[in-house]
Amino acid sequence: MLIRKVDDETELHLLERKHAGELEALDPGDLTFSQGEWIGVKGRVDAWMSQALGDFAAGTRLEAGIFRNGLLIGIVSLQDIDRDGKSAGLNYALDGKWRGRGIMTRCCRALIAYAYEELDLNRIEIVADVGNIPSCRIPEKIGFAKESVMRACYRSADGFRDCARYSLLKSEWKGG
Ligand SMILES: CC(C)(COP(=O)(O)OP(=O)(O)OC[C@H]1O[C@@H](n2cnc3c(N)ncnc32)[C@H](O)[C@@H]1OP(=O)(O)O)[C@@H](O)C(=O)NCCC(=O)NCCS
Repeated sequence: MLIRKVDDETELHLLERKHAGELEALDPGDLTFSQGEWIGVKGRVDAWMSQALGDFAAGTRLEAGIFRNGLLIGIVSLQDIDRDGKSAGLNYALDGKWRGRGIMTRCCRALIAYAYEELDLNRIEIVADVGNIPSCRIPEKIGFAKESVMRACYRSADGFRDCARYSLLKSEWKGG
């Protein structure tokens, strides 16, 4: 199911069971500052997919596959969709071989447009480890406001990590 066209080569589609093999084959790359999003998928795709599709049916989550000329290269998702409060979290992970080309920033812009235009949400939030520079650059480039730094937000193998919280309201969204 097409969610949004990103550019001439890239589209976002709802992730379905038929994509399980491609999901499993993705290269996680360097996950030093990732909070486990991808680790939650690899090795347990069936369980992850059941949960994701159940949440999609309930209207609380949308896991979109990033397809580049038909090849799955990553995931961008809306999490904790609150229809009454009109808010959601935005999360993302790209195959290690495809990073650093601006792809995820464009995909985030496309999913944000979908969230505001199709789902009529009002607030999108991104939470990123302060040490995850590429992840923090995405909300900064799109124009999110940095609201706070949450201290000891999660625990990694290296210990407690701080996370930046960013938000973008529909009224601030400049399109694209
Ligand atoms: C975070 C992630 C999705 C970024 O995807 P991407 O397509 O490479 O991102 P983009 O190319 O759109 O933008 C990345 C920005 O970070 C910058 N960047 C990339 N690597 C960097 C590094 N090592 N140091 C500093 N800046 C870096 C890029 O230059 C770019 O900023 P710029 O346009 O100002 O130059 C990808 O790195 C990833 O999947 N990481 C693992 C999973 C993860 O951490 N998810 C986020 C959890 S909050």
